[in-house]
Amino acid sequence: MKVHFIGAGPGAPDLITVRGLALIRRCPVVLYAGSLVPAEVIAEASPAARVVDTALMDLDQIAAEFVAARDAGHDVARLHSGDLSIYSALGEQMRRLDQLGIEYDVTPGVPAFAATAAALAAELTLPGISQTLVLTRTTGRATPMPYGEDLATLGASGATLAIHLSVHNVAHIVQELTPLYGADCPVVVAFRVGWPDQRLVRGCLADIEGKVAAAGLTRTALILVGRVLEAKEFSESCLYSRGHGRTAESLA
Ligand SMILES: C[S@@+](CC[C@H](N)C(=O)[O-])C[C@H]1O[C@@H](n2cnc3c(N)ncnc32)[C@H](O)[C@@H]1O
Repeated sequence: MKVHFIGAGPGAPDLITVRGLALIRRCPVVLYAGSLVPAEVIAEASPAARVVDTALMDLDQIAAEFVAARDAGHDVARLHSGDLSIYSALGEQMRRLDQLGIEYDVTPGVPAFAATAAALAAELTLPGISQTLVLTRTTGRATPMPYGEDLATLGASGATLAIHLSVHNVAHIVQELTPLYGADCPVVVAFRVGWPDQRLVRGCLADIEGKVAAAGLTRTALILVGRVLEAKEFSESCLYSRGHGRTAESLA
């Protein structure tokens, strides 16, 4: 018996891996993290499967589902939105499984930042503009940010920022980042990317707060900040430049 953690992607039901879908189809137990996992993906479970929405459950209750599946000899497909490597509560669930002696593995999914970049048809690392993407969030109602991971510190790098779980905090983001990036720095607030009600609100640090308020966006939005979002003047990468020695080693 094994628990298979699966990244279900950002919302579009066809943005899940082939491996993840196969696991959902064959597991007798499917646990999923609420409304951020699309119904079409859940519908791929066997009609005979036990399918449980864990949105209102605590960690003890979820662990009890793992134990019941183990006792029945049933594999579990455990679905979270996006990818499991960020903001998925994967760590604490794996720790419980380690304590229980239950095996698990992890199948990645398309994270919200990648789905947002695709929706914008944007490269988030442009030569000479930014070569670093910071995946972060701000302090809100949930887990506080550790010391040294505040926006002023991260923004001092000038890197492109992908700020999660923070659409309620746009005023704070603008206040912290304007001195570092400039009031005209482009910002995109991407709401429910991949869902039928997807919205992409474009602006700059000077006007994004008003635009988000006008659009009425209050949840499930990713905030991208950086000059890469509108840069037209950037150098070409060495990768495809004439005269760049392309050897198997240099491309690795
Ligand atoms: C609990 S975190 C989950 C992140 C997820 N594990 C990932 O890989 O993107 C939820 C936050 O991710 C972002 N997010 C997740 N799905 C999104 C989507 N479809 N569109 C825009 N942002 C999304 C939002 O910032 C949201 O507040």
